[in-house]
Amino acid sequence: ESYDMGGHDTYMHKEIAEQADAVDRVLRGRIDDRFATVHLGGLNLDARAARGVRRVKILGCGSAYHAGMIGAQLIEELARMPADAEPASEFRYRNPVVDPDTLYLAVSQSGETYDTLAAVQELKRKGARVLGVVNVVGSAIARETDGGVYVHAGPEVCVVSTKCFTNTAVALGLLALHLGRIRDLSVADGKRIIAGLRRLPAQITEVLRNEAAIEKLAADYASARSMLFVGRVRGYPVAREASLKLKEVSYIHAEAYPASELKHGPLALIEPAVPTVAIMPDDDLLDKNSATLEEIKARQGSILAVAHQEQQKADHTIVVPRNEPELDPILLGIPLQLLAYHTALSLGRDIDKPRNLAKSVTVE
Ligand code: G6P
Repeated sequence: ESYDMGGHDTYMHKEIAEQADAVDRVLRGRIDDRFATVHLGGLNLDARAARGVRRVKILGCGSAYHAGMIGAQLIEELARMPADAEPASEFRYRNPVVDPDTLYLAVSQSGETYDTLAAVQELKRKGARVLGVVNVVGSAIARETDGGVYVHAGPEVCVVSTKCFTNTAVALGLLALHLGRIRDLSVADGKRIIAGLRRLPAQITEVLRNEAAIEKLAADYASARSMLFVGRVRGYPVAREASLKLKEVSYIHAEAYPASELKHGPLALIEPAVPTVAIMPDDDLLDKNSATLEEIKARQGSILAVAHQEQQKADHTIVVPRNEPELDPILLGIPLQLLAYHTALSLGRDIDKPRNLAKSVTVE
């Protein structure tokens, strides 16, 4: 850990602050304005082979799995083919049906996570096509896959992932755009997504400017007994990652749920000591999310909304700039990295090295 902290008190804070530059790096040299697509040099998947893909399965662990959930939605939306993400360890132990028309993606910051690597090896043994979405160049997963997309987040030292999570979601967005433009995504939509990708670095900087307000909120949440994170569709993977981040770094128990599932159980937990964070982009589901806020308020739960505009029914709102709807999840999670960080800081936690956790889990 000889990397300079550059004036930050922790690597986590430094890595959160680096995200605009990191996203700039993952985009650099890859955008093709003429054909409204991207060039991914290491993919090793020609247009004919890409057209033959009928389904995408994304495998990873921890934050990589959550970035994969965002990626799966992007692939479904932009390339209009079924895609889903699954924890690599679950996949490898359930004797999965390996389908020749499925493209498998192994997602990993380190490229060394044992469960993800073992899933790749099992897939290769069965003759599947596996690509890597990896940060560390030349790592085991990068070497064992048929090709892939490097995430270019730069070194990530803090055990909990921030900039690499964001860059992985962007890298999967690039792949989704590429697959989309080989299929039915129009030039106009390709251009719209490219413009959205290019707006991300400045918008990340804008989100991070809100830090003082988020720090104040964190002081309140430090006394929470437990926290719920909810979202629908595009908001749900964001809720999953935000919940993981908070529990890893602050040790406050947190649970993520699809907002629609609250009434099937977790509503029983709502009370003043159990606040809810609601991820509610301004999409078709905003009214439904707003109704969820009412259900929580009726049970005296406090609410922090992360949204594109002030939410009257919430106690607090963190307003995040709008991008293209498909890319919104990339921005919505960023203020919640700061919330986790400041909550942990006010509790005096060992932020860069949370107890019981390792940066890279190379054993079973
Ligand atoms: C560990 C880390 C997580 C990380 C996960 C996957 O559990 O603590 O932050 O998301 O491994 O790591 P990878 O290197 O495969 O992305």
